[in-house]
Amino acid sequence: MRTLQVVVLLCWMALLCSAAPPTPNVTCSDDSEAAAARLALHRINQNHRHGYKFMLWKIKSNTTEKVEGGCRIELELDLKETKCHVVNPKPIEECGIRSSGERVVIANCTVTVEVYDADFATQYKCDTKQEISQSEMSRMCPDCPVMLPHTNPTTLSYIQQAVKEFNKNSSEENVYVLQEVGRVTSGYMMEAGMGYFFEFLMVETDCKKDSRIAHPACKPLCFDRAHHFFCTSSATTRHGLGKLNCESYPPLNTEPRGPGEQPKCDYAPPSRVGPPAPSSGKVGPPSHKESVPLIHPTPQVDHVAPPPPIDPCHISLSKSNPALHPICPFPLP
Ligand SMILES: *[C@@H]1O[C@H](CO)[C@@H](O)[C@H](O)[C@H]1NC(C)=O
Ligand SMILES: *[C@@H]1O[C@H](CO)[C@@H](O)[C@H](O)[C@H]1NC(C)=O
Ligand SMILES: *[C@@H]1O[C@H](CO)[C@@H](O)[C@H](O)[C@H]1NC(C)=O
Ligand SMILES: *[C@@H]1O[C@H](CO)[C@@H](O)[C@H](O)[C@H]1NC(C)=O
Repeated sequence: MRTLQVVVLLCWMALLCSAAPPTPNVTCSDDSEAAAARLALHRINQNHRHGYKFMLWKIKSNTTEKVEGGCRIELELDLKETKCHVVNPKPIEECGIRSSGERVVIANCTVTVEVYDADFATQYKCDTKQEISQSEMSRMCPDCPVMLPHTNPTTLSYIQQAVKEFNKNSSEENVYVLQEVGRVTSGYMMEAGMGYFFEFLMVETDCKKDSRIAHPACKPLCFDRAHHFFCTSSATTRHGLGKLNCESYPPLNTEPRGPGEQPKCDYAPPSRVGPPAPSSGKVGPPSHKESVPLIHPTPQVDHVAPPPPIDPCHISLSKSNPALHPICPFPLP
């Protein structure tokens, strides 16, 4: 499992590097704050390798200070999470944000942009949270859906079921496996019991669908070579899994490989990122036997294991809200 996870991370970076739009330019002129904010947002999204892209919502404050050879711009920014997963090639402006009923995620960031000639250095720290906290929301609207941790066993089992059905139904040649849970919300529904709404990302593997290899042994293709499917679906305790709505993203790199060239996931990391630090043994993928109840038990269980919870920010998982994909500080602590 550990190897698989590393492969995934390395490929992920190749994707984001090749997908990077041109970097906005910043000068030390009087009106450089807006440009500096755009640059900061660009860097934040470039370094953000999980969950959703963010858009700039508000520049809360800015100060510019002249320094030797350039200037230092300090910004306080409010960002909002968009509906585009980070692998979605759409430009941020076209992504759209969620309505308040969908539980909006925001981030407030303290950013420093240093400008030297045409060279920029950015540093930032963000707090990622729900726009309206869970407790505030349950006071205002007790019946509104709440966000659940990505590792919620009930939803994970629905998602695994959805991945299985996707593989059964799709006309794709290759097997897909779960890459990441995007978000999960849940609420009580009069007619149907508990309702679950979820979004997840699947990645193409090296297994052909008609091969008899057990799906957990299938290796995801390099991120820039893989197709992805981003899916939304829902389930209720009364009716089970609902319809699956999926969007496909083509591989970014379609150049044919040279003769005899082995697939390898090259990357140039824009920041210090690597496999997650060895966990204490406490945090880990929920084991099927323990915590993932099967909704529709089948005699032959070949559920695909969910990706283990990744600690993207190298901070204790317990410190970040497990229902969100937080923006990690840069540089990492
Ligand atoms: C930034 O400046 C460089 C060189 O001056 C230029 O080539 C590049 O196109 C500019 N980028 C944008 C996004 O304007
Ligand atoms: C930067 O701050 C000044 C006042 O401190 C304000 O007038 C200006 O509009 C701000 N710029 C941006 C882009 O928010
Ligand atoms: C975000 O906002 C809160 C409350 O205003 C503040 O205490 C915190 O320092 C801010 N975080 C960052 C990273 O700017
Ligand atoms: C798979 O196909 C069957 C039959 O066409 C359909 O009933 C089912 O809803 C499909 N599953 C998904 C997840 O779309």
